[in-house]
Order: sequence, then structure tokens, then C-alpha cells
Amino acid sequence: MKDAHYLETEPIGPLYEWFADETAVTSPTWERLCRWIAATPAVQDRLATLPGMARQPNRFLAAIRYLGGPTAPGPAFLAWLEQEWPRIEQVVRTRITQTNEPGRTAVTAPLLAALPQPVALLELGASAGLCLLPDRYSAAGLTFPSAVTGTPPGDAAEMRVAARLGVDLNPLDVADPDTRRWLRALVWPEEEDRETRLRAALEIAALDPPEVRRADLTQEPHQVVGTLVDELRQTAPDATPVVLHSAFLAYLGESDRQAVCEAIRASGARWVSMEGIRVVTEVEARLDRIGDPPDPTAFVLALDGEPVGWAQAHGRWVRWA
Ligand SMILES: C[S@@+](CC[C@H](N)C(=O)[O-])C[C@H]1O[C@@H](n2cnc3c(N)ncnc32)[C@H](O)[C@@H]1O
Repeated sequence: MKDAHYLETEPIGPLYEWFADETAVTSPTWERLCRWIAATPAVQDRLATLPGMARQPNRFLAAIRYLGGPTAPGPAFLAWLEQEWPRIEQVVRTRITQTNEPGRTAVTAPLLAALPQPVALLELGASAGLCLLPDRYSAAGLTFPSAVTGTPPGDAAEMRVAARLGVDLNPLDVADPDTRRWLRALVWPEEEDRETRLRAALEIAALDPPEVRRADLTQEPHQVVGTLVDELRQTAPDATPVVLHSAFLAYLGESDRQAVCEAIRASGARWVSMEGIRVVTEVEARLDRIGDPPDPTAFVLALDGEPVGWAQAHGRWVRWA
């Protein structure tokens, strides 16, 4: 993940060339469209009018799906863009990339299971809170296929969650039909299996929506994390408090990331993270413990800042150290 500065300032052509590479492995449709945009000034001129983070390719691509627009390059796409621009612009300016991937629980649950049970979870950057519900998915028979190499640190079936709470800049409501539509639109074409399981996870979550509080973790992270961990200790005094985060820290600048990690340490909670290779400085410094990444887009799983394995970004495979 490039930082916000890059997304806000990079010219549209190179930005979409970069995103074509990001999507190439799993989404040929987005790769093709992004390469075409990177070579088509008429589209770039439109997209260049968007401010700041609204230029993020993921937002425009999700808006296409959300609005039911064409996904193939060519004259029909250009015509749609011209005709629908006010609606597209409204979506892209008001919604943010909050992809919530419940498949990540397939690789975080065995790690949570290795801690003294039950656990009390605080998820940072929780979006709609779908990563807070591993026990509820398995109780409902929803599984997320994940190819496992090595020995998992714990047995997910033995994990028990005594309390759960999320925090996000913009908490999403799993029960709101329009929010669900946006979350589905964020899944890339050719990843229909993810979308199917996302729908199922949303159904389960909506039966008893996880609580996600609103907070900006770049503001007073010590206070926010400390207070919420204390709250979990009071709600579930016999549980192990755990701060959990996945695909979140990359959205923060480096000093804010550092401050959040220090806040987690200071809270005294256990710490489970699943982030990109270079995102958590202290985890990156110890990567030699787990060998080279199977591919450069792999995420690092870490417990209390110690890397314990590599995982595909959406939990499709895991390689435990
Ligand atoms: C890509 S989503 C990941 C959601 C979830 N953790 C998962 O793994 O599916 C990143 C989330 O981080 C949140 N976020 C970004 N910056 C934040 C900040 N400064 N404070 C709190 N949340 C933030 C976004 O709103 C978004 O919901």
C-alpha cells in the first residue's frame, strides 16, 4: 500500500498503471481497465478533477460496480463516464475504501486460539466489524477456505470470544442495505467467491451487529486504545484482552503508525496484527524469523510484535513459521 501522499499527488496515468499491477494477480478485468485508463487522456482528465484521496483508484472502481457501470474499456465506457459523471463523483467523494474481508478470520482465529481463553477483542480500523466474528461464522457453518502450511499456533475451534468491540474513522452498519452494497462493490471482479462469502458474513453479522465506535486513531491513540481496552477488562474481567488489526495501519502515515503501536503496547493487551510487509516497523525488523515472503504482496501475521507467519492478504493461504 502506497501512502496517502502518493495517492493524492501522483498523476492519474502512473496511479492507474500502479493499480493495474496491484489487481493483476486476481482481477484481469480491473487490470485491463486500469491499463486502458493509464493510456486514455479523456478518462484521466475527468479523474484528475477529483480532490485528495477521492483519486484513489479503488474508490472509482468500486463506484463503477456500485452504480452498475461497464467494466470493459472502450467507447461505451467513455460514454457512460460522461453521462453519469455527477453520480460517479458523488459516490467517489462521499465513500471511502473500507473493504471488510471476513476471510481474514481464517488466519487470525488460530492465533487468537493460542492465547489463554476466553479472549476479549478490540479491533482497530474495524470497518463494519466483520473480522470480529470468527466464532459466530463457525457456529453458523460459514467457513473461509485457506490453504495451510506449517503448524497453526492454536485450534480455532477452541477459541471463545467473551467480548468484542471495534473502532473506526467511519463505522459501517452491517444492517444498512446501501452500506452492504458498497462493501460488495469493493470486492474486485473475478473474486466472486469472496463476494458470496461476504454476503453470508453480512447476514450473520446483521443478526447481532458488532459494536464499532467512531474514532480517528491518529488523534490521541494512547487515550483511545487505553480507554477501550480498560472497558473490555471491565466487561470481561476473566478474558484475555487482545488488540487486533488487519489491513488498517497502512492507511496511516509512519509516525501515526508508530504512535498506534506504542499505544497498543502501553494498553497491556495482547496484540495480533495482519499487515503488509513494511507496515509495522518492529515486526519488519524481525522478519528473518519467518523466512522470505512467498510473494511480495503477502501479509505478515504477528503476535505481540513477533512475526509468526505469512498470509495471503485476504486469508486464502497461510504459512506458519
Ligand atoms: C481496508 S479497511 C480494513 C477493515 C478490516 N480491518 C478488515 O481487515 O477487513 C481499513 C479501515 O481502516 C479505517 N481507518 C483508516 N484510517 C483510520 C483512522 N485514522 N482511524 C480509524 N480508522 C481508520 C478505514 O475507515 C477502514 O474501515
